[in-house]
Amino acid sequence: MDEKFKRDHHCGQLTKQDAGQEVVLCGWVATRRDHGGLIFIDLRDRSGVVQIVIDPAAGESFKKAEAVRSEYVLQVFGKVRERSAETINPNIATGTIEVVASALNILNPAKTPPFYIEDGIDTDENLRLKYRYLDLRRPEMQKNFILRHKVTKLMRDYLDKHGFLEIETPMLCRSTPEGARDYLVPSRVNPGKFYALPQSPQLFKQLLMVAGMERYFQIARCFRDEDLRADRQPEFTQLDMEMSFVEMEDIMEMMEGLIAYVFEGAMGMKVQLPMQRMTWDTAMDLYGSDKPDLRFDMKLVNMVDAVSGSNFKVFNDIIANGGIVKAINVKGYAAIPRRELDGLVDFVGIYGAKGLAWMQIQPDGAVKSPIAKFFDEAHLAKIKAAGKAEPGDLLLFVGDKPAVVAQALGALRIEMAKRRNLIDPDKYMFTWVTKFPMFEYSEEEKRYVAMHHPFTAPCDEDLPLLKTNPGKVYAKAYDMVLNGIELGGGSIRIHRQDVQKAIFEAIGLTDQEAKEKFGFLMTAFEYGAPPHGGLAFGLDRMLMLMAKRASIRDVIAFPKTQSANDLMDEAPNTVDEKQLRELHIRTAILLKKDDKKDEKK
Ligand code: AMO
Ligand code: AMP
Repeated sequence: MDEKFKRDHHCGQLTKQDAGQEVVLCGWVATRRDHGGLIFIDLRDRSGVVQIVIDPAAGESFKKAEAVRSEYVLQVFGKVRERSAETINPNIATGTIEVVASALNILNPAKTPPFYIEDGIDTDENLRLKYRYLDLRRPEMQKNFILRHKVTKLMRDYLDKHGFLEIETPMLCRSTPEGARDYLVPSRVNPGKFYALPQSPQLFKQLLMVAGMERYFQIARCFRDEDLRADRQPEFTQLDMEMSFVEMEDIMEMMEGLIAYVFEGAMGMKVQLPMQRMTWDTAMDLYGSDKPDLRFDMKLVNMVDAVSGSNFKVFNDIIANGGIVKAINVKGYAAIPRRELDGLVDFVGIYGAKGLAWMQIQPDGAVKSPIAKFFDEAHLAKIKAAGKAEPGDLLLFVGDKPAVVAQALGALRIEMAKRRNLIDPDKYMFTWVTKFPMFEYSEEEKRYVAMHHPFTAPCDEDLPLLKTNPGKVYAKAYDMVLNGIELGGGSIRIHRQDVQKAIFEAIGLTDQEAKEKFGFLMTAFEYGAPPHGGLAFGLDRMLMLMAKRASIRDVIAFPKTQSANDLMDEAPNTVDEKQLRELHIRTAILLKKDDKKDEKK
């Protein structure tokens, strides 16, 4: 090995025990300070920073140190020395020592970076993304990727220990419907045909079960062309798994074991097992969400009984038309400013609510509310009792169709918890949400669609309802939720052909259509499919929560923006005409050009 760039220590790992030791370090200049006669350099590598001191006695090297600027790449030869008491820096791990340099090599100069390479900068994220390699040089970002590495290593260890095989599945697949939009890849050698990038390895992992692999996992890249949010990227990573000869309980137990193993190994955090479980119906009823945030209480309360029989026409009409009225109790917030209340009306409007009513409980227990006049004392007492409202509390009501009430009050619950500072950022509250409805009715398509995917097994006791009342069928599906975010989800799959057929019928797929779309899977299932099921975790989301970041972009090395662009390499971009013609693709621009050519002929 060439000795030229050799180093024998890492900056951040030097301690008092190394005092007196000769060391060779390599790294980047975090800061350089000239103290008239002495030059101080904070040298940074992946392990951390250490202070280098150079005095004029170092001769030629001192001259070089004078030329050094931020982010220059250096090799430093020196001796570790304990700092005197008054120069100890408690803010850095190596603050009790420094390295007195005897020689220094500038391995490479650097331009002045467009932002500071340090933690906690408030630089515009687009600039950080454009110079992502500099952004990733910041210690807090490096920490995220060290964590990411640890987490995937722990996952592999756990799954290996439990007999899972890591198997890769294709990136170039057949486009299959149901789910998000596909990213398509044109085929040069098959004119007019396209591959799709996988939205998940779902079909392949089920085929691996038919293939007798029994336990599979993959850290799989998935692609979905959907609207992006803070916790969604067009390409993201799943920890994907599937098991044969299991029921729901087996998978849930195996997966919560994995989560406990990973959180303990990567963060030293004990996860209480078994995790809490609640059905989808309960989650929707109490939290208005299928991914409830359990770090605070403020449950939704059904007010239908309490408000029935009053003179308030709005609620009476809603209830008479099959709607419901629910409320949340924002403890101790009766003194909410009127302007904020008006803002809340707009807030619930975003979620489709046509109005918001409120009651402010006065110190003497009296109810202050624009709608109080419609309720007699008995009704008001019932309402207060149902909402467990005490003097100083604020009740917020929404009446509408159950789905709208859930959406609006569920979102309001989170919003009020944020405003009232009720969320403890150090808490990790896991729960399983189970027994999802098998189908949801799509108003747009005027038919039932699978809520998870059409290979999810219905609950055994609901099988007779498949034909008569699909809306009432529940599925053997489960999501793991952490702090209001869906960490992962999965299901037991259908392995019986008669059941699969009934599901396709329920979502309005004819035999012919089902064959065209999923024929290869259906054929495979004729050759002895074992009972099986699985789950996939969103790895990026998990890391975002572990690293306490507000966006999954912070745990993805080269993420895309909200509009699916990479600001660094500027993908997506245009390609030249030749490339398009080879792929048998004509864009609108090419079409126009070709038309012009035709006209000339
Ligand atoms: P699902 O579609 O629920 O299930 O995806 C599993 C998990 O992947 C994460 N996730 C995302 N993360 C970042 N960006 C996105 N755009 C994104 N979309 C999903 C979520 C989610 O819980 N094949 C099934 C799993 C199975 O049934 O085994 C599937 O893909 O954390
Ligand atoms: P209105 O009769 O429309 O003026 O409404 C009287 C009060 O009831 C106002 O405070 C409205 O905000 C409230 N309100 C109206 N519709 C709803 C609803 N769907 N849910 C909750 N409150 C409502």
